[in-house]
Amino acid sequence: MIQQARKTGRVLAIPVSGAAQIGYPDIRVPLLRIGLLGCGAIGHLIASHAEGFEITVLYDEVPDRARELAEQSGGVACQSFDMFLDAEIDLVVEAASVDAVRIHGRAVLEAGKDLVVMSVSALADPVLCEQLRRAALSSGRKVRVPSGAVMGLDNLKIGRIGGIDQLRLRTTKSPRSLGLDVCTRTLVFQGPAGECVDRYPRNVNVSVALALAAGREVDVELWADPGEDRNVHEILVEGAFGQGEIVVRNLPSPQNPATSYLAAFSVIALLRDLSEPIVVGT
Ligand SMILES: NC(=O)c1ccc[n+]([C@@H]2O[C@H](COP(=O)([O-])OP(=O)(O)OC[C@H]3O[C@@H](n4cnc5c(N)ncnc54)[C@H](O)[C@@H]3O)[C@@H](O)[C@H]2O)c1
Repeated sequence: MIQQARKTGRVLAIPVSGAAQIGYPDIRVPLLRIGLLGCGAIGHLIASHAEGFEITVLYDEVPDRARELAEQSGGVACQSFDMFLDAEIDLVVEAASVDAVRIHGRAVLEAGKDLVVMSVSALADPVLCEQLRRAALSSGRKVRVPSGAVMGLDNLKIGRIGGIDQLRLRTTKSPRSLGLDVCTRTLVFQGPAGECVDRYPRNVNVSVALALAAGREVDVELWADPGEDRNVHEILVEGAFGQGEIVVRNLPSPQNPATSYLAAFSVIALLRDLSEPIVVGT
């Protein structure tokens, strides 16, 4: 489908469910052009599910990774970030690191492109968060944060309306994915998400995303468990609406055990939604 879209000049027929049966022709909409910043585990999963959008350019601080993924995705590997940003793209998907958001986030928005942030931990820094908010406002662009490795982020936004009294996250991962060597289940951090970010930046994306959605601090427990081969997130929330409990047992990606498949799938779902006329979820 993507190959055909390329040949026919960047348009994609979005099939509307049941439309053919009731006699409507397909409607053609422009294909979303993506710049992929970071060509690791998430980048590879995005590239292998690129439907409804195309990866136009790729950039990685390790040039070979961008080249290898460019061959697979049909995009162009950029030797410099300036070349990447000059390309004709609608948005940049950051799937790289907290540093990448710090270094490049503002420039992306100022260049008039939307920014999808996977390294959400970066937004725990209130100064950077405010800089990106201002850059987005003044350029008329958006910073989008996918639900990532959890479910339920959409309705946590009611925290900013009806109030949430308690929001707790208990994350359990294998010691290996935390870079630790322990033989028994061990509590490695307990406290507010903002304090966990400095010690485990790759493992607090979920708590920072929860905090941004709910508009309040999250109490975090981070456990290393040698008996656990999944990335488990337990969310407990209480407020004026009642109570909620969400448990997600994520399979780690084989390429990077700290990253769950769900996180990559969630950004793919977000990218596909951008071209959808009917968007489900709060
Ligand atoms: N939001 C979530 O729920 C969630 C879940 C999993 C991972 N993440 C985050 O997404 C990011 C990517 O995860 P991954 O598993 O694909 O990581 P990965 O290590 O497999 O790949 C990251 C790639 O980005 C490149 N990179 C890093 N810093 C860069 C920079 N400054 N400029 C250009 N390239 C850079 C690396 O060379 C690497 O190829 C990480 O920050 C991770 O913490 C978020």
